[in-house]
Amino acid sequence: MSESSSLQDALERVGAKFPVLAQRIHDAPLAYLDNAATTQMPQSVLAAMNGFEQHDRANIHRGVHTLSQRATDAFERARADVKRFVGADASHELIFTSGTTEALNMVAQGLSVPGDVAAVIRPGDELIVSGLEHHANLIPWQQAARRSGASLRILMPDTAGQVHARDLKKLLSPRTRVFALTACSNATGYRPPYEDLLALAAEAGALTVLDAAQAVGHSPLQLGTLACDFMAFSAHKMYGPMGMGALVGRRAALERLVPLRFGGDMVDWVSLDGAGFAGLPARLEGGTPHVAGTIGMAAAAAFIAAIGHERIEEHLGALRKHAAQGLQQIEGIRVLAPDARLSTIVSFVADDVHPHDIGTLLDEAGIAVRTGHHCAQPLLDHLGVGPTTRASFAVYNSHDEVERLLAAVSRALKVFR
Ligand code: ALA
Repeated sequence: MSESSSLQDALERVGAKFPVLAQRIHDAPLAYLDNAATTQMPQSVLAAMNGFEQHDRANIHRGVHTLSQRATDAFERARADVKRFVGADASHELIFTSGTTEALNMVAQGLSVPGDVAAVIRPGDELIVSGLEHHANLIPWQQAARRSGASLRILMPDTAGQVHARDLKKLLSPRTRVFALTACSNATGYRPPYEDLLALAAEAGALTVLDAAQAVGHSPLQLGTLACDFMAFSAHKMYGPMGMGALVGRRAALERLVPLRFGGDMVDWVSLDGAGFAGLPARLEGGTPHVAGTIGMAAAAAFIAAIGHERIEEHLGALRKHAAQGLQQIEGIRVLAPDARLSTIVSFVADDVHPHDIGTLLDEAGIAVRTGHHCAQPLLDHLGVGPTTRASFAVYNSHDEVERLLAAVSRALKVFR
């Protein structure tokens, strides 16, 4: 099957080379279909990070020397670039983090410090998270409820794994302080109607949190148009480096967070008895950051922007549809969220064959997929499926690779049955 020519043209125009993909695994060309876990980095991102490490490396904000000033400028330019990429406006600020997990913990902990006069979540309050969430957007809220005496309520998906506004309306109350939701389930590929659900929760007076990790690599995130106080995402799921991410949100909401990390670069003054904290964004960025990572993240955002979200979504949607339809033709396979739209993830289970066995045989054919609970065990338990095999797509994947996946899954089932 031919690839979208406009996507191919765009990839060639931006010189998209992915060094790690040019290898053979078990004597077959690598088909890397584990992009929901981590995407690969193009040469442009590697070059931007190397350029910093080789020519400008110095600590930021602290030096009068030239390298420190260059590093500070590059770091703050990266912040401005990533803000623009997610549609932040003047009412927003962006905090660099180590990834989505740290960003979500920063919010959940920052709102619920027990005994702190500034704590937003207090005994008797209510928090709502959806039953679709990755553990990183569930456990921090379990802990926040436990430490503050609030209760945690769950917006349960239906038997098809979808969540509904009518159910959220029943859960919202004047005591709801927070509503946290994913922009796309990492375990099924289902994209909830997060725009409407966030708006409902905001109207009810809750702070709203969006886990955008599984959307940022392909969907345009227009923060300015969302009823969203906090949005978290990772660089390594958008063709950028690992160990890098961001929390972006309304300044007024970010100002309510008690910092997670106290230390250097986040203070105005310090005495032996106390300290006064700096304003945003420094207040939430204690310690030396991963400066090369921020530069890589900005380069990754530029890479996506140069190709264009529309082209990316069209190509990945077509790959996902091809894979979902092909897998459904194979006897004994159940695809989760078969009709998910704006999604790059296809997750499935096979009668009588364990996903780890399928994943192992796929690896022998050079095809990398993920198997297991995908850090979303409550959702898979609710759907009654247990661990799954998950393929997930990125700009460098092709319909030929989908065909290889389908053939290898059929072969694996024959072997194990
Ligand atoms: N959160 C990543 C995944 O879904 C690791 O695979």
